[in-house]
Amino acid sequence: MKVSFISPEITDGHLKSVVVLPVFKKAELSASYKAYDKLSGMQISASAKAGGVDGSAGKDFQILGPKGTKTNRIFVTGCGGLDGFDSENFGARVVKTLLMSGETTLVLQMDGFDFTPVDAARAALGAVLASYRFDKYRTKLPASKKPSLKNIKIAVENPAKARAAYKNFYGPVAEGTLLARDLVMEPANKLYPKSYAARIKKMESLGLKVEILGEKRMKALGMGALLGVGLGSPRESQLVIMKWNGGKKGDQPVCLVGKGVTFDTGGISLKPGAGMWDMKGDMGGSAAVVGAMHAIASRNAKANVIGIVGLVENMPDGLAQNPGDIVTSMSGQTIEVQNTDAEGRLVLCDALWYAKEKYNPKAMVNLATLTGAILMALGHEYAGVFSNSDEIAGQLDKAAANSSEKVWRMPLDPAFDKLIDSPNADMKNIGGRLAGSITAAQFLQRFVGDVPWAHIDIAGTAWKASSKDPREPAWATGYGARLMNRWVADNFEG
Ligand code: BES
Ligand code: MN
Ligand code: ZN
Repeated sequence: MKVSFISPEITDGHLKSVVVLPVFKKAELSASYKAYDKLSGMQISASAKAGGVDGSAGKDFQILGPKGTKTNRIFVTGCGGLDGFDSENFGARVVKTLLMSGETTLVLQMDGFDFTPVDAARAALGAVLASYRFDKYRTKLPASKKPSLKNIKIAVENPAKARAAYKNFYGPVAEGTLLARDLVMEPANKLYPKSYAARIKKMESLGLKVEILGEKRMKALGMGALLGVGLGSPRESQLVIMKWNGGKKGDQPVCLVGKGVTFDTGGISLKPGAGMWDMKGDMGGSAAVVGAMHAIASRNAKANVIGIVGLVENMPDGLAQNPGDIVTSMSGQTIEVQNTDAEGRLVLCDALWYAKEKYNPKAMVNLATLTGAILMALGHEYAGVFSNSDEIAGQLDKAAANSSEKVWRMPLDPAFDKLIDSPNADMKNIGGRLAGSITAAQFLQRFVGDVPWAHIDIAGTAWKASSKDPREPAWATGYGARLMNRWVADNFEG
């Protein structure tokens, strides 16, 4: 979707397009509404009157081929009261409605109503998020089922300022989120550790430095926990490091770490077949990190940020690890692998330890589709946050409020930590039936030392079967890219 910002006067930019005119309860009509109404010989106000359109949310109507204008279609949409107006939702809702309309250009009239340049940029973000589709493997889709909209023009006072807000922040957020969605949507025969790493490598064009460690290098580093997960797969595990040095030279970086299990069969502790296809999305944490790094680099963020993703495929095989195996992590701590399906923590523990040792970060956040238990606790609405730092937990709360990716803090407690003690090794990788998300977080905490850190369990938010939010597609949400970009922007820049 091509986004541009134009001034609100009716010009050639409006030719052959669908023009969207918002109306609000108890508010004056905009200048553009009045201008179109006049051009059409008062056709718009006559329709509005006939339909009882009073600005109430959801009271919409369309006029096809309005008289007196060079516009194809006018879409008048009731937006409710001005108080609760959310421009992102507005942009998204309108695009959801008109995506397949047959129109190729949409002009969103955002003149009047005290709309700011940031409102306009956020409407554009909502519009782009709502336009997302993953159709690349659908070869027989009829044209009528393909999106027709190609251009979105936001008509607003001071388009230059809106353009700058979009270019410097909201555009990168949109692109980073769409990238994360694309990665989560890709099936595991297309996106596996090496092809994934190659795709990340291409992001060097944004000014990132990308380093890829294969199994040989990881073995030399002692990453026995991560490597154990990949033993059953013929596909080589990869650790990919993305470096963005936009801050002061020598300033301690922030590290973002992601679980990138490109497919999780469970391994020898095999998962049931029904629904197993969803496990192509078990790299959602890594996708959030890659999407965030994309956004951070695209907007030239003034911070030093390191993204690290552990890319592994968890398969059953003659060479796969067995329940009861004991592996030695890079930290030197040994782990009894009682369940090969609790593999995410095994991948992350080496990636976290590596991040801590190599980069001495001032703060570290990891994201992972780690436990089914977080779905039982928080459903699809909130991601679970576990943190050893009240400061970081507070920052994440704020970033969530500012990015509409919601988080809910969960406890860490030494009392839970005992549940992962093992008689045979330093710890085991499962904690029993209760508090499954917490014992997973306790496990990770053993690998972060005293670095201020948070773990975000996104097993419930990385994908959902359907969503009422017009910004979200049917499956992969891209959750986390936006949250992490916001967290970095609000706390580590300037
Ligand atoms: N990738 C899964 C967690 C998951 C479940 C993500 C559902 C998204 C939706 C993870 O690797 C896993 O299998 N966890 C186990 C842990 C258990 C064996 C301790 C789980 O949650 O059942
Ligand atoms: Mn698993
Ligand atoms: Zn998993």
